Amino acid sequence: MQPVKIADGVYDVGVKDWNIRDFHGYSTDLGTTYNAFLIVDEKITLVDTVKKEFADQLLSNIAAVVDPKKIDYVISNHTEMDHSGSLARVMHRIGEDKPLFCSKMGAKNLSSHFTQKWNYRPVENGEVLSLGKRSATFLETRMLHWPDSMFTYLNEDKILFSSDAFGQHFAGQERFDDETGDAIMGHAKKYFANILMLYGAKILKLIEQVKEMGLEFNMICPDHGIFWRQDPGKIIEAYARWSQQTPQKKAVVIFDTMWHSTQQMAESIVDGLEQAGVPARPFHLRSFHRSEIMTEVLDAGAIIVGSPTLNNGLFPTVADFLTYMKGLKPKNKIGAAFGSYGWSGESVRLVTEQLEAMKFDSIEPGLKIQYVPDPESIETCVAFGKRIGKALIEKL
Ligand code: FEO
Repeated sequence: MQPVKIADGVYDVGVKDWNIRDFHGYSTDLGTTYNAFLIVDEKITLVDTVKKEFADQLLSNIAAVVDPKKIDYVISNHTEMDHSGSLARVMHRIGEDKPLFCSKMGAKNLSSHFTQKWNYRPVENGEVLSLGKRSATFLETRMLHWPDSMFTYLNEDKILFSSDAFGQHFAGQERFDDETGDAIMGHAKKYFANILMLYGAKILKLIEQVKEMGLEFNMICPDHGIFWRQDPGKIIEAYARWSQQTPQKKAVVIFDTMWHSTQQMAESIVDGLEQAGVPARPFHLRSFHRSEIMTEVLDAGAIIVGSPTLNNGLFPTVADFLTYMKGLKPKNKIGAAFGSYGWSGESVRLVTEQLEAMKFDSIEPGLKIQYVPDPESIETCVAFGKRIGKALIEKL
């Protein structure tokens, strides 16, 4: 990839990871990008780096604009290794003594990741750094996505380098929102649901803070995916909406199955939900990746989880999904459990306990059916789905 000029004197020197399909447990079917930025001013400044294995490509992209040795400042918005993994190579090439600006937590965390004693310059929230004709303001954004995270805002260009926030795991020829159109919103939603959902309250507070500061944006440039230049407000509005987790008239039925009995239950519960007027669909955990399902969980009002009983416990994929979902802290959901069993039948109780631990509203005791559902049991599942659908409509 060649560097891309995104504004006068501002270049995207990042890289595309076309082939990654699993980003620490998140399915990245179209790969991703690690964006890094070069600002050519009186002080030539690099904002963020890329994953370690792409260091050569980053340095080559920088060299296509300026000699890397001429870089005066490095800004690290975030320690996670997809953005700082090639820092050691970069610092070695440009000069180990060059100032490295980061948050206070960034200095602490980078020092834990790297043994080199770099010239750390921890910055305060709101601190301004002159680059020459331009200046950069640093905004502390703790937990978006790590305690060290911060944004860098170029005041004169009104460009926000937002690190992980507003990103998408998407690698394509397109670099801007006006080139992808609305299709990019699905990728942005998946990214939010799987990485940032649990920080919704912090995101809402940050959006308020930015409004109070009166910041305007010509462009929002995250470290993953495309840049928002046509309508930066659109992704901010989407983040505000997603952070609130307002439940929609929508249900997801998530399950695994051994001999299709729990599957029959799932599909019958979906029928019942739809009969109640709630759009629903079943998600077989071995047909859909957990990160795809979480994207659907984000705005669903009802989450119904089914597991057969295996060796007195949960089916492993169901346990995996519940662990994953719990960590992302979905809110404002109706929850219910179901499953078929042979003789002991613990799974429905175990799912129910997990949903209760996530503070989902429980309106129905779990539904257990032994061995294979007969026509009467199928009707029981349909009625179960209908009651959940009715309760959701009443709640909205
Ligand atoms: Fe893209 Fe939290 O790193």
